[in-house]
Amino acid sequence: MDYTKYKQYPPVKLDNREWPSKKLDRAPLWCSVDLRDGNQSLPIPMSINEKVEFFNLLVEMGFKEIEVGFPSASETEFNFLRKLVDDNLIPDDVHIQILTQSRDHLIKRSFEALEGVKNAIVHFYNSTSTLQRKVVFKKSKDEIKEIAVSGAKLIKEMSKNFSGNIRYEYSPESFTGTELDYAKDICEAVMDVIKPTPTNKLILNLPGTVEMSTANVHADQIEWFCKNIKDRDSVIISLHAHNDRGTATAATELGLLAGADRVEGTLFGNGERTGNVDIINLGMNFYTQGIDPKLDFSNIDKIVEIYSRCTRMTVGPRHPWAGNLVYTAFSGSHQDAIKKGLEAHNNSDSHIWEVPYLPIDPSDLNRVYEEIIRINSQSGKGGVAFVLENSYGYKLPKSMHPEFSQIIQKITDKTGNELSPEYIFSTFNSEYLEVDGPYRLLDYTINTSSLETKISAKLEYKTDKIDISSFGNGPIDAFFNAVKKVISSDIKFHDYSEHSLTEGADSKAVAYIGMEVKGQIIFGVGIDSSINTASIKALLCALNRVE
Ligand code: KIV
Ligand code: ZN
Repeated sequence: MDYTKYKQYPPVKLDNREWPSKKLDRAPLWCSVDLRDGNQSLPIPMSINEKVEFFNLLVEMGFKEIEVGFPSASETEFNFLRKLVDDNLIPDDVHIQILTQSRDHLIKRSFEALEGVKNAIVHFYNSTSTLQRKVVFKKSKDEIKEIAVSGAKLIKEMSKNFSGNIRYEYSPESFTGTELDYAKDICEAVMDVIKPTPTNKLILNLPGTVEMSTANVHADQIEWFCKNIKDRDSVIISLHAHNDRGTATAATELGLLAGADRVEGTLFGNGERTGNVDIINLGMNFYTQGIDPKLDFSNIDKIVEIYSRCTRMTVGPRHPWAGNLVYTAFSGSHQDAIKKGLEAHNNSDSHIWEVPYLPIDPSDLNRVYEEIIRINSQSGKGGVAFVLENSYGYKLPKSMHPEFSQIIQKITDKTGNELSPEYIFSTFNSEYLEVDGPYRLLDYTINTSSLETKISAKLEYKTDKIDISSFGNGPIDAFFNAVKKVISSDIKFHDYSEHSLTEGADSKAVAYIGMEVKGQIIFGVGIDSSINTASIKALLCALNRVE
């Protein structure tokens, strides 16, 4: 690979840069460009109906500025905007943005498409980059500036006859490939025509049409531009990062620190080549810093579904905040920490979310807890116990976790597969609850005095009947003593716990008993509407599992 054919992007000369010590404290103005930049990059562009569905989703999510297309570029784009207007689909507080090149016939056609829009943003652009001036347009700096200025003049002129409210946006396209002072010069020339004021600002969009540098250099460019552009309070500085280097999110966040006010991007980063900056990623980053993102991501699965269906793109399983594996832990140590963290969180009065390996509460995005811990050969004891408790309500005592997780581990090691909660539960059932013999309980009676409890029980062993009885400080102790006396003298009581399994009148109890046999701990589980019966069944279950 011949790296010598590439040259390094130069740093920006910026004295006293301020962005590194700033912090983000509010969400920017958002503009979705899904229906234009996103759509124009799709192998199969969206149909009008798909665009309508996508538009409605964006409105529902709270976008107040939506670039709906490039209406002068194709009939579909034109007709889509007409449909939005004719079918009254645009809420009064949403600005409809259209894109046009800074060319007369395209500007005129764009105004035809906008007829009847209440709040419009006319976004015009021309490429200003050093390379494109040289190899594409073969024009001087002044000639390129003239394209922007004459476009601005025509737009200003045409807007006199426009019935709605209108705002303007200019993009020196390929800003990241343009000399900074020239980008400023051309933007100021456009300002001279548009004449923005603090109450009627011009949007200056500074696109990272191709991402060419590290995010800090991008931030330097934005800080330089914000500090040097004239009448800063009459312009909105907008970012429009593409993701060629995979750092569009970082570039945008640092660009906001550097003074930008507004962000154009798309859901899941759809867009030309490696895409536009991902607004889900950015917005959720704000949210998880305790800052209101001013967009609603709470129904993330619906957003993923509509996005995937309309664009025919996929959302990767590791996609930040939205992928279907991003709140899932397979590894034992992560599962253990999550389980403990969730327990601590549930027992705490604090409103603040602090759970290891879970940077947010998945339920904020309507993600279910079943997804958090999934079991494969990498998983540990805590994970298996979490699944049984979370999905089926069985709170296995901690001392039982190693035994049951070893049973599960043997299966995952053998199959190499992930085990579903259903499979884990059916293994738990067959291992403990469906154990039927050789010892079976037929009947028992308990007599309690103030001093002690006596139990008399009838058992079946294979085909024989056995009567056992003994005393103890409670029914379980008495039954254990009876078993020791008649059936097996070398067992020791190790562990007991119980909890109710269901609530209400038909509530059932589950008991877990650990028994030590020749130095080995063996557990049994019993369920019954009577806690005494559940405990006796648990003890017999352990006994049966020894056999
Ligand atoms: O990436 C880009 O430069 C664009 C412009 C048209 C704003 O999409
Ligand atoms: Zn773009």
